[in-house]
Amino acid sequence: MARLTIIFLLSSCVSASAADAENGKTLFMADGCYSCHGTVGQGSGDVGPRLAPDGPDLAAVKQELRHPAARMPAYSESVVSDAQAEDIAAYLHSIVKGKPAADIALLSH
Ligand code: HEC
Repeated sequence: MARLTIIFLLSSCVSASAADAENGKTLFMADGCYSCHGTVGQGSGDVGPRLAPDGPDLAAVKQELRHPAARMPAYSESVVSDAQAEDIAAYLHSIVKGKPAADIALLSH
């Protein structure tokens, strides 16, 4: 019984601290990030730089939210919490690079 309790406690700790990419995606849409950075962080020219794949890490995401480099609106802790910023960073890191066009058969016809 004691062992079961320990396993339960350990697993709830892990899930409480693990960033949730799915929630990050929801926040990325709900907080309007997508409107400047594109729905999969692909960027949109001058409006917002590309954030994925191989985008900024969590520290850079938090830095930009709290102290934007230039034109991005700031997002305070009460709008996007640190935990939510972690989820957003997890979403951005979950976005994988697409195949090169040459590897997509349909495009070589
Ligand atoms: C109104 C347009 C706009 C919105 C909305 C916006 N951004 Fe940005 N973002 C920018 C611009 C422009 C930059 C380039 C730096 C600057 O001018 O501040 C930037 C830069 C960034 C960077 C730094 C990129 C790098 O390479 O270091 C991150 C991370 C980022 N944004 C994340 C977000 C997230 C997360 C949200 C939503 C909570 C968001 N942005 C909402 C326009 C926007």
